[in-house]
Amino acid sequence: MCILSLLIRIRCSMFQIMPYKSTFLTTIILFIFCTSCKKELVDQAIYDLVKTAESDLGMVVSAHPLASEVGADIIAKGGTAADAAIATQLALAVVYPRAGNIGGGGFMVYREGNGAVTALDYREKAPAAAHKDMYLDEDGNIIKDLSTKGHLASGVPGTVAGLYATHDKYGRLGFNKLIEPAIQLAENGFKLTKNEAKRLNELKEVFVELNGEDFPFVKASPWKAGDLLIQKALANTLRQIKTKGPNGFYWGQTADYVVEEMQSGNGIITKEDLSSYEASWRTPIHVTYRDYDIYSMSPPSSGGVALGQLTKLLEPMELSQYGFQSVESIHRIVEAERRVYADRAEHLGDSDFYDVPIDLLLDEAYLEERINDFSADSASSSASIVAGDFAMAKESFETTHLSVMDGEGNAASVTTTINASYGSKVWVKGAGFFLNNEMDDFSSKPGTPNMFGLIGAEANKIEAGKRMLSSMTPTIIEKNNQLFMVLGTPGGSTIITSVLQVFLNVVEYGMNISEAVAAKRFHHQWLPDQIMYEKEGNFDADKIKILESMGHKLRAVDHIGTVEAIMVVNDTMIVGAADPRRDDHAAAVRE
Ligand code: DON
Repeated sequence: MCILSLLIRIRCSMFQIMPYKSTFLTTIILFIFCTSCKKELVDQAIYDLVKTAESDLGMVVSAHPLASEVGADIIAKGGTAADAAIATQLALAVVYPRAGNIGGGGFMVYREGNGAVTALDYREKAPAAAHKDMYLDEDGNIIKDLSTKGHLASGVPGTVAGLYATHDKYGRLGFNKLIEPAIQLAENGFKLTKNEAKRLNELKEVFVELNGEDFPFVKASPWKAGDLLIQKALANTLRQIKTKGPNGFYWGQTADYVVEEMQSGNGIITKEDLSSYEASWRTPIHVTYRDYDIYSMSPPSSGGVALGQLTKLLEPMELSQYGFQSVESIHRIVEAERRVYADRAEHLGDSDFYDVPIDLLLDEAYLEERINDFSADSASSSASIVAGDFAMAKESFETTHLSVMDGEGNAASVTTTINASYGSKVWVKGAGFFLNNEMDDFSSKPGTPNMFGLIGAEANKIEAGKRMLSSMTPTIIEKNNQLFMVLGTPGGSTIITSVLQVFLNVVEYGMNISEAVAAKRFHHQWLPDQIMYEKEGNFDADKIKILESMGHKLRAVDHIGTVEAIMVVNDTMIVGAADPRRDDHAAAVRE
């Protein structure tokens, strides 16, 4: 058992096909195999990262080892997948502050052991004083940085309301037990990884510009891996939440701090905006793909509709016959994506404000018609609207996903965000957390791309109290009516296509879940009219030449998405796969 747990700590994609209680011989063979595996550990020096783990008791996969372990421990103590998802999110708000949050929002798709699936929307809302032209100058042009940096960029946070809504419906352990690990991590500090130290050093200038020097994320000498980050103010805010529930965030001292912070800049969030915030239960988007039932997030995320459209467009194409990332497969997937993202730009927005034609967009006859101009030999042309370049190279985006399964068949797929890395970069003095810059997800000006290069129009215009359109795609998949897969990722506009590819990698190209997550990805979003592909993968010079000769334009990028996935293998074994691209970690539940 001891050797086995050691082995589980050395990630190896072979694990998922091995029975949990391996024989000694198998264990030895596995050991020899695994030690020869390519090292994927990103920050092994600080944390013992696990990229693939298995258990029949439950699994939590998230962006940070401390957070995943907090969640797994909650299940081991008798908590449900919902309890673990809450505790993991709260821990991420402390140890992964670039994206984990209480100052942002998110979405959850949840499946109970009895098969019932729901979706929770705790996306940020535009403050009451927000209006359609708030980021435009008198000539109607976008004012640079106004929707992305500083106080005016924030929507009203939804995370704390979302955590409590989750707990009210699906929680078993007391909320105080779920929040306590986060309080301890904030109070006593945690060690920074190399990535996190590097990011803090890069952001020092903007942090000081917006928050001054007297704040825990800035120090005189550069941060380095292993430094302790202590967040006393955040610990106090978490204690407020622990004792007062959602009121500890939306009313009283914390709300006062947020409003004071707003007033110290050009912010518009008021006490009323905070006290009136509520999370909303939604009907998840549900589509079928052969033997699979796919459940994903409904508006105000575009994720579920777009993933549904993509899978419905691709199902008849039988991609397995062409092979993984063959020219034929890439071309077909790209042509489907081009059409789906064009639909997204026109038709998707907050369904509380805009009549999103969900049924029509997922209608089989409509989709058949949508793809009937497809040519196997040449790329179609995206409309000639001038779209700006992706800001991807300049700005680092941050969202975070966690996937959870417990041993009772409950599963949570949660994607949560403050949008950019550390959101608006405004840290609420006194309360100790960063505010989101989610307002940039609205269409500030029709036809003008946001920081993800995404274009929008009427459906996603800014309105008071409205939720901005998202691409987040927390997804749960059943196979033959049994829980099969939980997955999701950060990555802005690339979220939808990353989730799609991991699914296709398993069901069309026969990969195991770790291979499917690790495989290099590509992405097309209609505008800009280009295929983004990850470097050092299958896009070699010959392939690029063929795709270009078909009319595609290509662009190499460092990485696309950071997927956290869990899959059930052989009906009982729960296999967690954390993305090797970063410090993500799969925590198996142990007795
Ligand atoms: O909701 C959205 O689609 C974006 N705010 C997500 C941002 C994101 O994924 C950034 N992360 N990598």
